[in-house]
Amino acid sequence: MQQHAIIQRRIDELREQGLFRSLKTVSGSGPLVELAGRQVLLLCSNNYLGLAEHPRLKQASARAAGSFGASSGASRLVSGSMLLHEELETEVADWKGSETALVFNSGYAANTGVIAALAGRGDIIFSDRLNHASIIDGALLSGARLVRYPHNDVLALDRLMTEHGGNGLRLIVTDGVFSMDGDLAPLGKLVDCARRHDALLMVDDAHGGGVLGEQGRGTADLLGVAGDVDIRMGTFGKALGSFGAYVATSRLLRDYLINRARSFVFSTSLPPAVTAASLEAVRLVRSAEGEQLRAGLAENGSLFRGLLREQRFVIPDVPTPIIPIQVGDPLTTMEFSRRLLERDILLQGIRPPTVPPGTSRLRCTIMALHKPEQLQRAATEIGAIGRELGVV
Ligand SMILES: Cc1ncc(COP(=O)(O)O)c(C=O)c1O
Repeated sequence: MQQHAIIQRRIDELREQGLFRSLKTVSGSGPLVELAGRQVLLLCSNNYLGLAEHPRLKQASARAAGSFGASSGASRLVSGSMLLHEELETEVADWKGSETALVFNSGYAANTGVIAALAGRGDIIFSDRLNHASIIDGALLSGARLVRYPHNDVLALDRLMTEHGGNGLRLIVTDGVFSMDGDLAPLGKLVDCARRHDALLMVDDAHGGGVLGEQGRGTADLLGVAGDVDIRMGTFGKALGSFGAYVATSRLLRDYLINRARSFVFSTSLPPAVTAASLEAVRLVRSAEGEQLRAGLAENGSLFRGLLREQRFVIPDVPTPIIPIQVGDPLTTMEFSRRLLERDILLQGIRPPTVPPGTSRLRCTIMALHKPEQLQRAATEIGAIGRELGVV
């Protein structure tokens, strides 16, 4: 009983601080979903291109389950390496223009697996302060020294790299698109910095893949440094509308990761239905239809930014579908979100530890399938509630 009391006290503390989280059940991945019997506008899904419900993905998934079954049956090193996994890796490597690719079970598994495989005791990981939690967890798991540099501050990183020398491996790791702010990493400068200090560079492009660059190849492609990044990680669960993740990298690093990335070695591989959906998604984002969807997404992003600015919010000017509305404290943020839901708009509040204390926010994510009138209505409601709560 004592143990349950400890847990209860922890939950009570979370509630008092406005940090308690609970689940909301929805019928799909947007832009309109059913929630508690009502139709609501979803403004916080990472299904940017709307591929999660695309007929081609659904058919590919169903066909693969019909032909190959529901599971891969084992880790790929045991007996679970299927032709579909290889086809997907060949397609990803071709898309990204990399020597090879390796598929992981999720972005979380890729980051923890890759980082902890590359770095260990005696090594140093240089990580942007606003990197995703899975990068931090990978760094903690690795046992390497973790040096966090101020957000996107390459001068500070350069200084820190000079200060922290040694003979071990040195890894710089950054989000390509920062997941909670939507801004881009200065990859050109990071490439130079990595070269100057003879370090490996890893970019987590969970939010750039499928969205930015030619054929949606991602942030490094957009910024013209795709060939200079040692490890480009991306996910299938966001713009690609499926599930899982990949790294695009060299043959040497792929061989090493197959041997040493524990989330790859010790976990059953992705099932056929998921792998086939991802393969179809990559083909789709590379096609003319993918191009059209990206254009629609960019248009919707600038429309919504403009509409929010008309409501007097300060909105950063970045080319991504992630649009943060700064609120500050978690209790007001969650009240904002609650009032929006009363008006049939689902827009989650984001609080610590996902973002630093004092920067709780509404993180809007735009989809290519949002209609202009839906975005107009959402901006008007957000403006009205923002004024009710004194946020704007
Ligand atoms: C920047 C970033 N990296 C990694 C992940 C983890 O990816 P996944 O959801 O596939 O585990 C996410 C998603 O939450 C993310 O936003």
